[in-house]
Amino acid sequence: MNMKPDSLVRWTRDNAADLYGIRNWGHGYFDISERGEVEVRPLGNGSELAISIMDVLSGLKQRGQSLPVLLRFADILSSRIEQLYGAFNAAISELGYQGVYRGVYPIKVNQQKQVVAEIMEFGRKHHHGLEAGSKAELMAAIAYVDDPEALVVCNGYKDEEFIDLALYARKIGIQTVLVIEMSSELPIILARAARMGVRPCLGVRVKLSSRAGGHWDGSGGDRSMFGVQPHQVIDIIDRLAAENMLDCLQMLHYHLGSQVPNIRNIRGALREACRYYVAMAREGAAMGMINIGGGLAVDYDGSHTNFASSRNYTDAEYATDVVEEIMTMTREAGLPPPTIVNESGRATVAYHSILIFNVLEASRFEPKSVSDKLSEQHHKALHTLRDIRNTLNTKNLQEFYHDAVDCREEIRGLFQHGQITLRERAIGECLFWDIMCRIAAESRQGKYIPEELAGMENSLADLYYCNFSVFQSLPDSWAIDQLFPVMPIHRLLEMPTRKAILSDITCDSDGKIDKFIDLHDVKSTLPVHELDDDDDYYLGVFLVGAYQETLGDLHNLMGDTNVLHIRIGKDGQFEFAHEIAGDTVADVLSVVEYDPRDMLGRIRTTAERAVREGRITPTERREIMDAYETGMRGYTYFES
Ligand SMILES: Cc1ncc(COP(=O)(O)O)c(C=O)c1O
Repeated sequence: MNMKPDSLVRWTRDNAADLYGIRNWGHGYFDISERGEVEVRPLGNGSELAISIMDVLSGLKQRGQSLPVLLRFADILSSRIEQLYGAFNAAISELGYQGVYRGVYPIKVNQQKQVVAEIMEFGRKHHHGLEAGSKAELMAAIAYVDDPEALVVCNGYKDEEFIDLALYARKIGIQTVLVIEMSSELPIILARAARMGVRPCLGVRVKLSSRAGGHWDGSGGDRSMFGVQPHQVIDIIDRLAAENMLDCLQMLHYHLGSQVPNIRNIRGALREACRYYVAMAREGAAMGMINIGGGLAVDYDGSHTNFASSRNYTDAEYATDVVEEIMTMTREAGLPPPTIVNESGRATVAYHSILIFNVLEASRFEPKSVSDKLSEQHHKALHTLRDIRNTLNTKNLQEFYHDAVDCREEIRGLFQHGQITLRERAIGECLFWDIMCRIAAESRQGKYIPEELAGMENSLADLYYCNFSVFQSLPDSWAIDQLFPVMPIHRLLEMPTRKAILSDITCDSDGKIDKFIDLHDVKSTLPVHELDDDDDYYLGVFLVGAYQETLGDLHNLMGDTNVLHIRIGKDGQFEFAHEIAGDTVADVLSVVEYDPRDMLGRIRTTAERAVREGRITPTERREIMDAYETGMRGYTYFES
């Protein structure tokens, strides 16, 4: 849909920044360069160092890499870890708190080895640890935590093997904390620990009655799936007391849910959790650590509100509230200041990854023009539609909209009863959509747009077919309507004149992005530029570092995209630190149990039969086999 025909309007990078909100959601990591390209400032606000994503793409092209590609900026990861420790350490020193802050990264949020390894590298000076929620995650955690002061928090349901692993890790000097999520875990832990001669460090995850709000509200509250009830906490304490092991119970843990948008919910949960902490200490448990879980939100839409895609607080406000509440409640109870443990995942990794893809083509909603000259033979409903089109004006928009809808219904009915021809029906449809386009254009000019006409522009939006899979790369956009910032990464000194919905290349009607961030609402279309026949057009989806990569699936057998890790080198230039090739067709077929070699054999047999039957020549057989073999090694996405 064309937004504004007046191409003479002066358009600057500030206009583009306002339109796409990049300075609101970018957290100082993203801006627009003088060349009109999105630039990444991996060191954060105030740093002059900027990398143009177009320069990265041109480096990729020179190396023969195809899009889509996921760019991971290691320096953003490092900067986020510093910002989180900076916020907590500042709050601790301002408030005069005597305890310390310890972060642990929940592997589930992005399990990719490079990401976990980088977090361990950057967080080492703070003794940053890991959180594991399954056996596989624990295996990864104990292999990557080599700092004896870092914690490995073990959440999730635990069988004997999981518990053994955590206890063995403790034996070799890794600080595992077994967090009891279900009462049934305690007897197993006690039995295994006694057998191994290990004194475990234990935590209890409590079910708070406080709610998170936002998308993940269900993770918290009385009916949440994880954690124990108050009477079970008492049972655990009594059992530990009976075993003379209350010194082992050191951590109170809760997790309200991810992406908590409202600081009030965070404060409410803290208060309740602190009561548990104090009560458990009074019951004789050693305590010493309060683990506030995850939940620190990311301001995806940049609105700084309590909307589900945003947050109405800063890192600093979050840290201050956490430290203040814990300090006040434990001080009042006369308890030593606990270590504050935090499992922030999303807020650590979301910013550092960007998905970049090219637009393959656009489909425009432009009805074929129909001449004014209709003959006597044409049905009178067609004449009425033509007259509506020719006499439409700002004052009669709504009335004529209803008339046009009625006329179209009549024409469809006449066609169904065989009373008009296909050609007449085609004229009717073209006239109808011509009227809708004119109504949309007129209503854009008016100050007041009736509600039923307000959505018109969206139904007439262009469809931009893009080289990616929503299911593979942005599963939360499809599954829970999560919003991510999306924008063109170049041509930002040109006013975007079209409005589009983005369709991916899976053949699924859900394979699209049709909800976009907006400061005041949710937009149904994205402002984009007219495609240029000679040059590719690139879009970026930002803040995709959390949860998207592993949740993604192989819908339509679209595999993992290429990944590129970028780091700032010693000379201040960006380096391609690590490249990971995306899945080949053979890779994804193997995942669903096909054997590519067997498939080649089958095609060879079919091709040989065709040679025997004289349908192809032996040379053609070779060409066909070459194409099949090359296809097996190829990328699963569109390659030009
Ligand atoms: C127990 C636990 N801790 C931490 C997290 C990470 O939460 P977030 O990504 O909101 O920081 C999760 C994720 O839901 C979780 O289940």
